Amino acid sequence: MLAWATDVHLDFLEAPERRAFGERLGATGCWAVLLTGDISDQRALGRHLIEVAEHAGVPVFFVLGNHDYYHGSVASGRDLARAVCAKAPQLTWLHAAGVVSLQPSVALVGVDGWGDARLGAPDTTPILLNDFRFIEELAFQLAPERNARLRELGDESAAVLAPTLEAALRDHARVIVATHIPPFAEACWHEGALSNDDWLPFFTCDAVGDVVLRAADAYPDKQLEVYCGHTHSPGVARLRPNLVVHTGGARYGHPDLAGAIALP
Ligand SMILES: [Fe+2]
Ligand SMILES: [Fe+2]
Repeated sequence: MLAWATDVHLDFLEAPERRAFGERLGATGCWAVLLTGDISDQRALGRHLIEVAEHAGVPVFFVLGNHDYYHGSVASGRDLARAVCAKAPQLTWLHAAGVVSLQPSVALVGVDGWGDARLGAPDTTPILLNDFRFIEELAFQLAPERNARLRELGDESAAVLAPTLEAALRDHARVIVATHIPPFAEACWHEGALSNDDWLPFFTCDAVGDVVLRAADAYPDKQLEVYCGHTHSPGVARLRPNLVVHTGGARYGHPDLAGAIALP
């Protein structure tokens, strides 16, 4: 079993609470932990990832969320994720890991994803995320330039995922896709309902959604499961007979298990 948690925002906790959370994950008897982003912020991400792996006592697979890039740049956040995984073999940043074959029939793949300013009303939304203050590449820009950059970041995630997902589906009957941003409007739960057009541009990664849908349609006999977070509101959406998307719930200061992913 994989213990899945999302948006744990460990930077909101004191050390004993972080330890208790890691130990709680380990106590599930899971084989590994899957974290779908917003783990911490860039100032503490490395330390907090290593703590989770230590306290849970099992390998940790993760993708990064927008908050993990706060107080730095996208480029420096990626360097940090690579560096910490190079030092700690129990950590795997899925965005850079390719296909992880969990079992002969089950693969795990992942990409960070970005709210890529495509769905909903990106040109008229009044929403301003903290991302636009705390992530270097997105700060001090007017909306058109910022939205163009967000679309590029979404496209980058899609370009990373497409060949990885294709390779995973060729060799496995079931593929688990981890990503931070919901890839579809139908999976974009916000405060218990589907997100409105003002939030959708920053709450969905349409480019990743296109890749996932194409893959599901190209391999109708294979099962695809997406696990994501970001919106802190749980829900399940079935996009195709062979494609289901699980969006995990979360509360700041109260990290918890979002689900248990059964493995045969
Ligand atoms: Fe979050
Ligand atoms: Fe997020």
